[in-house]
Amino acid sequence: MSDPVTYTLDDGIAVITIDSPPVNAVDQALRAGLKKVFLELRTQSAVKAVVLMCAGKTFVAGADIKEFDTGIADPGYHEVLRLIEDSAVPVVAAVHGTALGAGTEIALACHYRVALESARFGLPELSLGIIPGAGGTQRLPRVVPLEVALDMMLSGKPLPAAKALQAGLVDALVDGDLRPAAIAFARELVRKGAGPRRTREQAVKGAENAAALIAAKRLQVAKTMRNRRSPLALLDALQAAVDLDFDQGLQLEAKLSAQLEQATEAKALRHLFYAEREVRKIPGLARDIAPRPVARVGIVGSGTMGGGIAMCCVNVSIPVTLVDATPQNLERGLALIRKNYQRSVERGNLKAEQMEQRLALITPSLDFGTLATADLIIEAVYENFALKKEIFAKLDAVAKPGAILGTNTSTLDIDTIAAETKRPQDVIGLHFFSPANVMQLLEIVQAGKTAPDVVVTALELAKRIKKTGVVAKVCYGFIGNRMMDPYGREAERCVLEGATPAEVDSALEQWGMAMGILAVYDMAGVDIGYLTRLERAELLPKDPSFYRPSALLYARGWIGQKAGRGYYRYDGAERKRTPDPEVIAMLADEAQRLAIPQRHPDALEIEQRCLFAMINEGALLLEEGIALRASDIDVVYTAGYGFPRYRGGPMFYADTLGLKAVYDRIVEFQQTLDPQYWQPAPLLKKLALSGSSFAQWQVEQIR
Ligand SMILES: NC(=O)c1ccc[n+]([C@@H]2O[C@H](COP(=O)([O-])OP(=O)(O)OC[C@H]3O[C@@H](n4cnc5c(N)ncnc54)[C@H](O)[C@@H]3O)[C@@H](O)[C@H]2O)c1
Repeated sequence: MSDPVTYTLDDGIAVITIDSPPVNAVDQALRAGLKKVFLELRTQSAVKAVVLMCAGKTFVAGADIKEFDTGIADPGYHEVLRLIEDSAVPVVAAVHGTALGAGTEIALACHYRVALESARFGLPELSLGIIPGAGGTQRLPRVVPLEVALDMMLSGKPLPAAKALQAGLVDALVDGDLRPAAIAFARELVRKGAGPRRTREQAVKGAENAAALIAAKRLQVAKTMRNRRSPLALLDALQAAVDLDFDQGLQLEAKLSAQLEQATEAKALRHLFYAEREVRKIPGLARDIAPRPVARVGIVGSGTMGGGIAMCCVNVSIPVTLVDATPQNLERGLALIRKNYQRSVERGNLKAEQMEQRLALITPSLDFGTLATADLIIEAVYENFALKKEIFAKLDAVAKPGAILGTNTSTLDIDTIAAETKRPQDVIGLHFFSPANVMQLLEIVQAGKTAPDVVVTALELAKRIKKTGVVAKVCYGFIGNRMMDPYGREAERCVLEGATPAEVDSALEQWGMAMGILAVYDMAGVDIGYLTRLERAELLPKDPSFYRPSALLYARGWIGQKAGRGYYRYDGAERKRTPDPEVIAMLADEAQRLAIPQRHPDALEIEQRCLFAMINEGALLLEEGIALRASDIDVVYTAGYGFPRYRGGPMFYADTLGLKAVYDRIVEFQQTLDPQYWQPAPLLKKLALSGSSFAQWQVEQIR
């Protein structure tokens, strides 16, 4: 392996180049390389200044995350960064691409920074449940105002070079070739006799307002980053930067970092980091299967989903043929797409000409024949079995050989849909979530006959359109919606047992769900779930209380936000959700009519009933082979269902509680609640009683 850190001499200027593809992430070898080079340069009296830059597409973008589990091998970050900062001659970081995490911390240990106009600087450590641990919390507020430092680290969003210049993080912007410009900058420092400007020797900027600022951020974090430790630790570290000297501040940063790294929050976030990469590996599929080329996508149905899917494609320059049955609906669909883009333009996230370019990639049509040139056709018409079957028969007639036929169905049996064609091997489920242009998740449903290269193509497509594709097999609701079923069932049952809708949602939200499930029903439309259940009524439990609240709301037309009321009322200009006494009275009457005992479940019981029902269903999905891995379920839930990332997903969360504890509680529910719903999944029972975990089971499956 070639040396990741080398240098050349350019007439008194040493130019150090870090070259460790793909993103120059810091690992032991890179640290050792930096140490070696900086020690060597000390002995070279001819060197008057140093430029530190990177080869490849970016400056150092992060660190080797495996070192969290293995421990940091020598030389450590502090030793190396101190060596850089101690340099007797000025050190200039020359930044291109995105300096991330340790990359920004290295740049901060340099004495000066120049950057390409396109460069960015980020400290996204909170997204891994940790804080910058290589001096970032102590050095950044000595370079930029405390408030900017706080915002950068709390949001994790990289700061563009122009803003970095304004804030003082960058000394000069470079338009053009970075290397000669950085060398010229260094030469100018030498000419002026400007020596090292060590960050640690600077005062914290804006220290006088620190107390009020940090107090305000504490309040904000308590609301927006509920249940998390790392943002609070970050504020403690910044308080230390203000109160203590640099070395004491570093010590506190190190102590906090060590605590956070081993805490559940960081473990959960690291778990997801790996899980999101793992989803692309499909057991049993050869690694070398090539995806089919997808140069044009056809979409059938220009409604909510079809329009969103079209946006996903044209956003990454894939041309789309968008077909609908009626000119009115096609027009409406196109208008909605334009409106969505218009909003991005108004917010400054998209240029008007980019919007026009994207819209120009959409070819609207009322003729199925125009789909003949598409390599992939995604059907997104009404959720109606007969209609979907008819559409697939038509697609079979017009699609070119080898074209992939995808369906966005949420609930229908894809094997049956595939059987309508003479090419079931080309049929696959592509389950997008609403709004499709925003939501991260794509469930890829491999039907019984779907060919392996079709699955590979779908995974590739997900990557291209910047989504997380997770493969599932066919069952009702696939992974996500199937696990939502028992989760929602318990929430609906709890409001019949005397908890109010607000109590149920608040219990789930306090625990960390982005939105309580009843509020979600109101948002999506109470009618959607109700009508789906109506269609499958004969397969559902003959329990009069089963999803009864939804049925009552539906009967009254209180179907959620679009009706102005559902579980809640949505009055006033803000349409804020407020409890509805009529709904509460309606639920109480119904509970009495059905003679449902009023348990008045408290927050803990609500949370456990909803989540444990979901986890138990997850265990069934694993046994049935619908989900390939426990970690895939975690990705589905965090990417598509507002499950808090810092809890790692439902299966990881169950592991952190201990499966025995989860199992015991389910058995308790079996004895005290309706036993037909509380049958522990055999896999959960087996793992719980043998002291194992879903993670352990997953490792054993792969062996
Ligand atoms: N809306 C969601 O939240 C959501 C989420 C995931 C999946 N889905 C699924 O996506 C699919 C579409 O849902 P939607 O919400 O976009 O529906 P929608 O009602 O907004 O749009 C359906 C579109 O299909 C068109 N259409 C109907 N029959 C057609 C035909 N024969 N040929 C061509 N076009 C036809 C309609 O004109 C309409 O524009 C459904 O299967 C649904 O279950 C919806």
